[in-house]
Amino acid sequence: MTQMRENADIIDRDEVDDLEAILSVTNTAWDEQSHAVHSDYDTMFTWDYDKGQRPKLDKLYEKAKRSQWNAQTDLPWETEVDQEALVVANAAANGGFNQGLEVAGTPLERWGDKEWIRFGVESQNWTLSQFMHGEQGALVCTAKIVESVPWIDAKYYASTQVMDEARHVEVFSKYLDEKLSGHYPINAHLRLLLDDIIADSRWDMTYLGMQIMVEGLALAAFGFMHQMTTDPLLKQLLRYVMSDESRHVAFGVLSLQEHYQQLSSAELRERQEFAFEAAVRMRDRFLQQEVWERMGVSPRIVAPLLLQVPERQTFQALLFSKIVPNCKKLGLLDAADGWLRTKFTELGCIAFEDWEDTGSEYEQLQATDGATAAAS
Ligand SMILES: [Fe+2]
Ligand SMILES: [Fe+2]
Repeated sequence: MTQMRENADIIDRDEVDDLEAILSVTNTAWDEQSHAVHSDYDTMFTWDYDKGQRPKLDKLYEKAKRSQWNAQTDLPWETEVDQEALVVANAAANGGFNQGLEVAGTPLERWGDKEWIRFGVESQNWTLSQFMHGEQGALVCTAKIVESVPWIDAKYYASTQVMDEARHVEVFSKYLDEKLSGHYPINAHLRLLLDDIIADSRWDMTYLGMQIMVEGLALAAFGFMHQMTTDPLLKQLLRYVMSDESRHVAFGVLSLQEHYQQLSSAELRERQEFAFEAAVRMRDRFLQQEVWERMGVSPRIVAPLLLQVPERQTFQALLFSKIVPNCKKLGLLDAADGWLRTKFTELGCIAFEDWEDTGSEYEQLQATDGATAAAS
């Protein structure tokens, strides 16, 4: 029988919206230069070298080989970026500075354009820093998949993703150094999540945590920023990164679909719990607590205000618009009495279940590519 684990066992608190518990998780190691995570797992050799046994993975691998780009030479790095002007332009294009916050009676009441612009600049530094740290997470997770996945087609594909992720870390790091105005250390919630993914010994958990959850969210987040930003360099950078990311998420969906078919309902329940934990950790990060601290405002004052802005809730839910259909495609929503369906309903993101999953989306893109190639 499946042992029923409660929220407290999975996410260290009973209520998902317990702000005090969320804000009490902070990164205290701001000067840390490296971070070790222990993991016990089997590195798998396979003696079955028959390429193309899994035709969809094989196709993805061939596609990946043709889609490599060079972070140093394929982007217009000479573009001048005026970060403050961008913050002003982005705010003008997206409904003003204060994000619909009810600031009366709070320290934000005294903020003028100067403070909001500085906040916008810090917020961008923070966001791009977290993208960069997440990309390093993807780099190490995918290297681990090369070792631990038992199928040759998956090892081949994953090796190309390792190269993709190195390039992604490289572009975000270069953009931060050359165009923005400061770095942030990894957010504590993101680090908890990456640590949990890496520490798990089961190869399919690496895929679920990284390819389905972290990369699924990244794909949606990059999409928003791509749409919103008025900086042509960042726009192009994100477009390149997103074309790689959609392949990575498709890799996760295709691999896990096969593997999950042979798991018991108790084993699937463990995957559901892991998906839920990852979803909550990612959501906890949205409060940007380090940015408010750097602005001299207690996140404990601002967080309840942030939670009251309806547009913000809609936006946050939309970040799960790739994850939910992908979990459904994998059978994770409804396995084990629909446990994950209930949890995603509580998190307010179940409405996306019938949106297109990334596996089908990717195959359609492939088909369109083929048609274009045939027509030209
Ligand atoms: Fe990436
Ligand atoms: Fe990726």
